[in-house]
Amino acid sequence: MRKNILITGASSGLGEGMAREFAERGCNLALCARRMDRLEALKAEIEKDHPQIIISIRALDVLDYEQVFEVFRAFRDDLGTLDRIIINAGIGKGQPLGTGYFYANRQTAETNFVAALAQCEAAMEIFREQNDGHLVIISSMSAFRGMRKNMTTYAATKAGVATLAEGIRQEMIGKPIKVSTLYPGYIRTELNEEVQNAPFIVDQKTGCRALVRAIEREVDNASVPPWPWKPIGFAMRNLPLSWVKRMT
Ligand SMILES: NC(=O)c1ccc[n+]([C@@H]2O[C@H](COP(=O)([O-])OP(=O)(O)OC[C@H]3O[C@@H](n4cnc5c(N)ncnc54)[C@H](OP(=O)(O)O)[C@@H]3O)[C@@H](O)[C@H]2O)c1
Repeated sequence: MRKNILITGASSGLGEGMAREFAERGCNLALCARRMDRLEALKAEIEKDHPQIIISIRALDVLDYEQVFEVFRAFRDDLGTLDRIIINAGIGKGQPLGTGYFYANRQTAETNFVAALAQCEAAMEIFREQNDGHLVIISSMSAFRGMRKNMTTYAATKAGVATLAEGIRQEMIGKPIKVSTLYPGYIRTELNEEVQNAPFIVDQKTGCRALVRAIEREVDNASVPPWPWKPIGFAMRNLPLSWVKRMT
């Protein structure tokens, strides 16, 4: 069993929900995000129901790349080993290209891709030393095709992290380090609270339970929840772009 789990972006949404699910399974947790008040409240709440597990929390802005390495190593020292690292912190802030919002698209690109690269580097350093570990990347269904308007940069970052994960997975074939990429469909969180058109959306608990189930299977790739997102993913990858436009 992977006992010690690090989750980035654990102060809300999927990170918070996955932390609760892993706590129910008796795992120790290393949780980080910028909002420490949210992490402190989550830690107190989980500890009430699961006093036997260890929960370590630290402030981390993933855009402070040096801090990413420091915080990951500090968590490893807190728990002794890190058996699974879930790279989840992300934002969904983009705007159509060429409309004066480079700063927003750049922030999305840096948070969702460059900072994810820093987190993969920091995780892989620890896993290479341990010769063991499970790296989990939270991508998105939007990674499967180019997306228009507000989604253009976001989708590109999610395709980028999926390809990054596949490259690491290819290098690790035959070695004890595993790499999983998850492609969530719509799961209700702060990220999409203003999104009106969110087909097949599920609540946080349902979504996070499905995510943790896929993570524990240590699959290479999984659309989550599998129904209806697995067939939708197949259609998205294979239909002409004009059809994808009508679907999204
Ligand atoms: N919800 C969905 O439908 C959906 C679908 C596909 C993929 N995803 C992906 O799932 C992941 C989690 O999203 P969510 O839906 O749970 O959104 P959320 O509720 O907004 O949570 C995002 C998390 O990322 C953290 N974060 C953002 N910027 C950060 C930074 N600079 N440094 C450190 N932490 C940062 C936030 O913590 P602080 O603000 O406290 O730092 C927060 O804990 C994202 O990668 C997202 O792209 C979500």
